Amino acid sequence: MRIGILTGGGDCPGLNAVIRAVVRKAIEAYGDQVLGFRDGWRGVLEDSYYELTIESTRGILPRGGTILGSSRTNVYKREGGVQLVRDTLARHQLDGLIAIGGEDTLGAASRLGADSVNVIGVPKTIDNDLGATDVTFGFDTALHVATEAIDRLHTTAESHNRILVVEVMGRNAGWIALHSGIAGGADVILIPEIPFDIDEVCRLIRRRHERGRYFSIVVAAEGAVPKEGTMAVTAAGGFDDFGHPRLGGIGQQLEGWIEQRTGYETRATVLGHVQRGGTPTAFDRVLATRLGLAAIDAAHDGQWGMMTALHSTQIELVALAEAVAEVRRVPVEEYQRYAVLFG
Ligand code: F6P
Repeated sequence: MRIGILTGGGDCPGLNAVIRAVVRKAIEAYGDQVLGFRDGWRGVLEDSYYELTIESTRGILPRGGTILGSSRTNVYKREGGVQLVRDTLARHQLDGLIAIGGEDTLGAASRLGADSVNVIGVPKTIDNDLGATDVTFGFDTALHVATEAIDRLHTTAESHNRILVVEVMGRNAGWIALHSGIAGGADVILIPEIPFDIDEVCRLIRRRHERGRYFSIVVAAEGAVPKEGTMAVTAAGGFDDFGHPRLGGIGQQLEGWIEQRTGYETRATVLGHVQRGGTPTAFDRVLATRLGLAAIDAAHDGQWGMMTALHSTQIELVALAEAVAEVRRVPVEEYQRYAVLFG
């Protein structure tokens, strides 16, 4: 078989582990040839690729990022995009593509599948917000980075009697904020799924002061928003190829709102892309490897239009369309279960 592989969307620790697993199994077990397309769908549209071999993918397992590069290029935003994809597949006599991505990259993969292009998806995103899989690789690594940062901020917050706001990633879903906040013992956790009341945030912080704790940690997902009509939020500006606004800024705004209302010194830290960089955790390396091995098997079984997914302890196949149907958000009841720990 001849297979193409690409990584699209925001990068995430574990992408190289998938590439390595696909290449190893494709060549060793099946005698395939594998072409790596550069920068997500852009490489397929513009025919930018190189052959991947066991030699060229050696040593990449623990490396963050992706050796193929990534972009947020949308096939369906390009004039004649679908035909360009078909042309590339035909030119290289490829049997199909393995697309590693999140909701956008796999959304395009799902539409291409409906347009009779052979694609298999592998889910990734630090946000952990893809449907049809229990967890995405990259999330565990981001969680470790955010939790370590919160631990570090704790000691300096306590030394200076400050309120420290930590802004973490999570555009539509608050998984990183919730889990790092719980793991790091945060006093307030704000997630996109539940618009916050700034007076309630300040009440929890004041209550800690009354109880003799003169510092607090507030963890806010970048997509956290105040209750409608209560405060004006200013976005960082700009949109990507899939129409998502560039976020970032809620941490700074909370800094001002909390300090103004409570009179306590408040500072914000934005973790940003630090959460996406660096070496994947062992959990993410293993999950990524399992998903990659299953993806190349799926290609040989002709399971086009499917995505590899983790269900409990098993790797299974689900329809790509099902995986991208909706974002997997934090259930309100799950957040509320932890509310007793706040403040
Ligand atoms: O989708 C992953 C993610 O890291 C989001 O959490 C974040 O909002 C977005 O990517 C940032 O994208 P970019 O790196 O393109 O600014």
